[in-house]
Amino acid sequence: MEITKYPEHLAIIMDGNGRWAKKQGLLRALGHEKGAQSVRQVLEYCVEHHIPYLTLYTFSTENWNRPALEVKALMELLVKFLRKEADELDKNNVRLNMIGNLERFPEKVKNTLVGVIDRLKDNTGTTLTLALSYGAREELLTTIKRIAQQVEQQQLKVDAINEDIIQQHLYTYDLPNVDLLIRTSGEYRISNFLLWQIAYAELYFTDVLWPDFTKKHLVIKIERDDLEKLANNLSKTMLKKILLLAFIAVCSLVNAQEEERISLGQGRKYTIGGIEVTGAKRYNEQ
Ligand code: IPE
Ligand code: IPE
Ligand code: MG
Repeated sequence: MEITKYPEHLAIIMDGNGRWAKKQGLLRALGHEKGAQSVRQVLEYCVEHHIPYLTLYTFSTENWNRPALEVKALMELLVKFLRKEADELDKNNVRLNMIGNLERFPEKVKNTLVGVIDRLKDNTGTTLTLALSYGAREELLTTIKRIAQQVEQQQLKVDAINEDIIQQHLYTYDLPNVDLLIRTSGEYRISNFLLWQIAYAELYFTDVLWPDFTKKHLVIKIERDDLEKLANNLSKTMLKKILLLAFIAVCSLVNAQEEERISLGQGRKYTIGGIEVTGAKRYNEQ
């Protein structure tokens, strides 16, 4: 029985690379390199489950203010990732898209990006959108200017401006609204990401640092949540309740063994068919 409703548009604020590196006594750049492996995992999950849109916050407008060496390392990593992964992306029918202000990027990054986007443009599977030199305020500003220009040129009346018109002028004009936004590393912020597009998104924050984030975390978030919903909706026979509780408990145990720092469910109260249960404690707590 297929019960999981996968998101149509999953967006991720991939945070915590620097802290991950620091914890291991490594340079920040190595944290970013390890973070690229998490990108692979998440993308694989989306391809396997036919999630049509994955949008990754890869480099924000504010990230230009980081030390020049770190910015350079991030640019190099991006080029390396695109060159190395292009075949694999193609094999998996992934289409590549970018949002943000490409103008600020060095030629090498621009050319590589444009080349890979072009190569994958006819693919029909998951659309991977990289937010690069992206800031939602800048996007809204650009959108407003584009619309104002049309008004100025008398192609559009002020009264005709509505939400659809705004949507059509955003960088994400060809993407649906986000339905699940994940931020890693225990920061509870949006950091200027997709402000318009997340109006109705579910927000999910986890303490896991991005380089530690794997497919397993998505399974737990997306598939276990649905089990809970299913349990709530089932008719109230005691046997069904007990079976589902047992199943969820087994899932929790399996996950607890595999992962120490998953924040989902920790101490959270669930009501399943009228029975209140408390989610597993933080796994690294006593
Ligand atoms: C996210 O990790 C990657 C980028 C913003 C490019 P950080 O580099 O922000 O890592 P922390 O937040 O310092 O741990
Ligand atoms: C958000 O992370 C940007 C990206 C993940 C690319 P930051 O680490 O840059 O955000 P702040 O500075 O903590 O808000
Ligand atoms: Mg950060």
